[in-house]
Amino acid sequence: MKVLITGGAGFIGSNLVRYFNEHDPLADVVVIDDFSTGHVENLTGLRAKVVEGSILDETVLTEAMHGVDSVIHLGALGSVPRSVERPLESHHANATGTLRVLDNARINGVGHVVVASSSSVYGSNPVLPKSETDWTRPMSPYAASKLAAESYAIAYGRTYQMKTLAFRFFNVYGPQQRAGHPYAAVIPKFLDSALRGEALEMHGDGLQSRDFTYVETVCAVVFEACQQRLNSDSPVNLAFGSNATLLEVVTTIERATGRKLTVVHQDPRPGDVRASRSDGRLMSELFPHVTPVDLETGIRRTLAWFEDENARGSAQHTS
Ligand SMILES: NC(=O)c1ccc[n+]([C@@H]2O[C@H](COP(=O)([O-])OP(=O)(O)OC[C@H]3O[C@@H](n4cnc5c(N)ncnc54)[C@H](O)[C@@H]3O)[C@@H](O)[C@H]2O)c1
Repeated sequence: MKVLITGGAGFIGSNLVRYFNEHDPLADVVVIDDFSTGHVENLTGLRAKVVEGSILDETVLTEAMHGVDSVIHLGALGSVPRSVERPLESHHANATGTLRVLDNARINGVGHVVVASSSSVYGSNPVLPKSETDWTRPMSPYAASKLAAESYAIAYGRTYQMKTLAFRFFNVYGPQQRAGHPYAAVIPKFLDSALRGEALEMHGDGLQSRDFTYVETVCAVVFEACQQRLNSDSPVNLAFGSNATLLEVVTTIERATGRKLTVVHQDPRPGDVRASRSDGRLMSELFPHVTPVDLETGIRRTLAWFEDENARGSAQHTS
């Protein structure tokens, strides 16, 4: 088996390369990444052919697509606030980028493409929990670009008889997801502040809720989707209905670190959704054998990664 992972040097992508290396050692893994937000160090020690370049570049795509069985398209500019500041950049990478990947796969006869969409597409729809049949109403340019991406995946499946599958990821977290940049996600930001002994900055009252999904759970699902060459003409929520508020995340981090943490509340951010929860039904139907990693375990493992990184950093400073 040969898979192409776009955005493979990013957080989820590099975890997925590792997952393939460990669970299907014979699989050839090709990565395309322009390193706009990904890091080459994420791939240290992993087996993958790395093609450096953009998914917007036809030549790069054609080089990487050769002989591939499944494309896992993760390459994108994440973050709602980034898209609020620079909507066109997000559109080019996320919407046009997905169209280019799908079209290059079509031209080169690659019949299976998995596309990363996002729970943010539900936007202002207040219904909870969310099922894939609920209406979408993006609240940010990022969410709009992801809705375009998943729509192209479904349309290509219908139009060109390709096997396509769009997953709506719900707040993925885990090792290799970094803090220390303006668009960092909430769990790495909180863990980083907790380890530095700094106050945790929280937008809003902390009662906003999410289905936090551990990255290994995401990898297990995507891996199985490729093994089975699964397709779907409906997007699929990649979440298991395990919901937590930000305040609950803080208490979980307090238990994991054994520290009492201070929270400083700030104004809510534009584009942020109040509550996000999947009913998890289609996910369990399609992937009955995947057992999700719970929040407590996931946070402890992520904390261990942050501690290792910090130790490596201080070792480098003293050597
Ligand atoms: N992390 C989450 O909670 C979450 C939630 C919903 C959806 N997603 C989606 O999952 C995917 C992976 O997210 P992540 O959290 O690993 O983000 P990430 O930023 O760590 O990874 C994205 C990768 O794509 C690369 N990239 C960006 N633009 C590119 C381009 N034009 N050409 C080639 N490579 C490019 C980046 O360098 C990076 O390595 C993205 O599509 C994201 O929108 C993530």
